Amino acid sequence: MRSPQPACSLAALAVLAALACNSGDDAATAATTGDASSTTSGASSTATTAADSETSTSADTAVEPALTYYRDIKPIVDAKCATCHRPGDIAPFSLVDYEQVSMMAPYVIGDITARTMPPWSPDAACRPYAHDRALTDLQITAILEWIELGVPAGDPADEPAPPAPPAPVDYDLELGLPAPYAPTVFPDEYRCFLLDWPKDQDSYVTAFEVVPGERAIVHHVIAFIIPPEDVASFDALDAADPGPGYPCYGGPGGGTDFRAAWLGAWVPGGGGGALPADTGIRIRPSSKLAVQMHYHPVEGAGPDQSQIKLRTAATVARPAYLLPLANPGWIKGLPPMLIPAGAADVVHSFEIDLSNVIQFLYNDATFGIGEPVVAHAAGVHMHTIGASASLNVKRGDGGDDTCLIDVPRWDFNWQGVYQFAGPTTINPTDKVRLECHFDNSAGDQPVTWGEGTGDEMCLGMVYVSAP
Ligand code: HEC
Repeated sequence: MRSPQPACSLAALAVLAALACNSGDDAATAATTGDASSTTSGASSTATTAADSETSTSADTAVEPALTYYRDIKPIVDAKCATCHRPGDIAPFSLVDYEQVSMMAPYVIGDITARTMPPWSPDAACRPYAHDRALTDLQITAILEWIELGVPAGDPADEPAPPAPPAPVDYDLELGLPAPYAPTVFPDEYRCFLLDWPKDQDSYVTAFEVVPGERAIVHHVIAFIIPPEDVASFDALDAADPGPGYPCYGGPGGGTDFRAAWLGAWVPGGGGGALPADTGIRIRPSSKLAVQMHYHPVEGAGPDQSQIKLRTAATVARPAYLLPLANPGWIKGLPPMLIPAGAADVVHSFEIDLSNVIQFLYNDATFGIGEPVVAHAAGVHMHTIGASASLNVKRGDGGDDTCLIDVPRWDFNWQGVYQFAGPTTINPTDKVRLECHFDNSAGDQPVTWGEGTGDEMCLGMVYVSAP
């Protein structure tokens, strides 16, 4: 049997995941633990407790352990793990109470030390990001110390008050999959559903959230904008496949993948939320949305009918684009993006100025051609033999490069576009450099650009708005 293919090209990027979808998670994280950018400043409350534990004597420990579950560990685990590790959610076991956390403690050491959990791929050395899911060094130290102390529970009364929930977003639109759908392809199924766009005037999406129907199987969700002129061909795709929706491995399908406009995406552990202040993505009347669901079917799960909630505005101060960046030559095979069989570190890179990309993708561009743009978020995308990738701004005035994103350990399952803690301006004289590394040492076939699981891609994504 043909093995299921991963979502490819644009489709697989969990774009806007961080941009639009993790703010709930983030508020909790920031309030309880400080974000990753503060790791080196060493000033969080965890720092104090972790440091205390080092100086505590065994006599102290017998009376009151330097670190207890309720006082020190539960706030970290609630903010950084339990968003996915909870009943009915995507992670395979729960970490919501003392019983579970103390029992699992020996098994989490490897993952937290290697930083494979929580899933968070951008390197903090590149730049700070909003909504950072990663554990700080101090949090890792605290958890390891606590395990060494014998996982003391402490007093439930010591549990700090949970952080205030983030301000609710006033969504004004809710669109659902047309019918419940039960995935049938194991271990992964990618399927697109078309949703009618109800507005009869131009409007801008300023916030986006997914409410998964069957949480345990929804791995990620990406919404694309199908412009009015392409709707008929997408309707035909949908009609050609039985049941609701149609299989889509690339972007939304239909051969227009590279130009497909992104709306947003969601990964587990994200709450939902607004795009950067005053920015929004335009949708024209008579458009449709193509929603790509990445399902991870599990035993006993029911069918899914996820909902998408959106906040819209008639105008925004700073219209925005989510720009896919790739070398057109790779896509056309001129020359092909060749990754030879058996090669351990193959690098493909290119540089482009954003004006060209905007001109190519948006013939009705309202900003950004020959003018500065402001970048708010970035991501990279490859398939399964991708090893690492980065996006950097090369300054036209000879200034230092600006790192947008650096993913040192690529994981197809946990990709995203990550919102910057602070935006950066990209000038018309600047170029954006994309660099992807591939490891085909285990492969006996050369690999090139394509949409299948055995093909590869090297894509960058940048969310830019008018200044
Ligand atoms: C964004 C969702 C998410 C968050 C946050 C998260 N996990 Fe996970 N975790 C998963 C999923 C899903 C799996 C199943 C394996 C996979 O898909 O990578 C998993 C698997 C694991 C495993 C088993 C590892 C393995 O090799 O299968 C451990 C241990 C673990 N998580 C610990 C943690 C801890 C500790 C935290 C917090 C510090 C955490 N996780 C945060 C989603 C998450």
